[in-house]
Amino acid sequence: MKKTILVTGGTGYIGSHTAVALIDEGYDVVIVDNLSNSKMEVLDGIEKITGIRPRFEQLDLVYSERVDAFFKSYAKISAVIHFAASKAVGESVSNPLKYYQNNLGTLVNVLQGMEKYDISNIVFSSSCTVYGQSDILPVTENTPIKEAMSPYGNTKQICEEILRDTVAANEKLSCVALRYFNPVGAHASALIGELPLGVPDNLVPFITQTAMGIREKLRVFGDDYNTPDGSCVRDYINVVDLAKAHVVSINRMINNQNKKHMEIFNLGTGNGVSVLEMIKTFEKVTGQALNYEIVARRAGDIEQVWADTSFANNELGWKTEANLEDTLLSAWNWEKHIRGKKS
Ligand code: NAD
Ligand code: WQD
Repeated sequence: MKKTILVTGGTGYIGSHTAVALIDEGYDVVIVDNLSNSKMEVLDGIEKITGIRPRFEQLDLVYSERVDAFFKSYAKISAVIHFAASKAVGESVSNPLKYYQNNLGTLVNVLQGMEKYDISNIVFSSSCTVYGQSDILPVTENTPIKEAMSPYGNTKQICEEILRDTVAANEKLSCVALRYFNPVGAHASALIGELPLGVPDNLVPFITQTAMGIREKLRVFGDDYNTPDGSCVRDYINVVDLAKAHVVSINRMINNQNKKHMEIFNLGTGNGVSVLEMIKTFEKVTGQALNYEIVARRAGDIEQVWADTSFANNELGWKTEANLEDTLLSAWNWEKHIRGKKS
């Protein structure tokens, strides 16, 4: 019989791609989402790609009694992937309590439900933001955690601590925390992708919306950093590759191949790419000239970060497959799809 995986935040950007990858692997998927940052139609995209419509519950995971009632009604869940969280760094600075309540509260409720209903495995969405500006590059999983640069970043650090302590106190529980670098791109079908509400904060949606004519101009935040071309450097990971790492992590726990009850992995490509290189690559693969200007640095940006992926590559037997060209083309095809333009 198929094993059931609960995907919280599963109509969101990374959750929807992971739902597809799980269904492709033969898992039964249940999605819980409050639709605060995603739309129900995402389920149509998942169904078109996989031929299967995952079960869906619209539920706000900050309400502990509702979470309890949910777990009670779904008796056989083999593992949880906990994506649900608020993720806008700037908003977390102006409204920190929203972030502490949503990101910590939902995790606590999910873990309480797991303990009570005997569910042993959780994959948690962490972030490279926990490293801040590391003194040593690339960053490994043992690179020291720096003081968080935003309440959002702090929630990811605290969530990892909550997980570590809970796993230490409950020998039945296992956790894989995945520290994502910068997820970008969309499913090759262009049927699911990133759906930023309002003006995007992140680089790639801003690039595609500018090329589409929705934004007048991309602002490049600084060209005076100590990097090869002066613009910031990040590790941009294809979202489908990222999704597959979740499936590998789930397989690992379900088959008891995890070596420790709490494991942490960097998920990136291992390559640092600058903002200006991103623009040039986008222009090359899409044939779209991008209107951009160099402006002042953005407050709170780190200069450069990219992942040492050897632990994830060796331990999980996982590595990224997509190249940056294909990834940016997939983001552009998705932008065209949502604006109703033919690819
Ligand atoms: P997203 O906003 O697209 O998806 C998150 C989903 O969670 C949304 O569908 C939202 O409606 C839902 N959600 C939020 N609060 C909820 C609640 N209280 N109850 C039920 N559902 C709730 O974000 P994403 O980019 O897919 O990110 C998924 C996870 O990965 C998040 O935990 C995020 O912090 C983490 N992460 C994202 C990035 C990134 O750049 N996208 C990088 C590192 C880590
Ligand atoms: C990438 C680069 C910008 C927009 C954020 C979070 C991090 C993680 C991933 C969740 C930077 C530059 C951007 C624009 C630009 N999320 N840029 N013009 O800041 O690396 O990481 O998302 O955990 O926690 O902080 O991603 O996409 O915002 O920026 O020049 O309009 O693009 O300065 O160098 P970032 P980003």
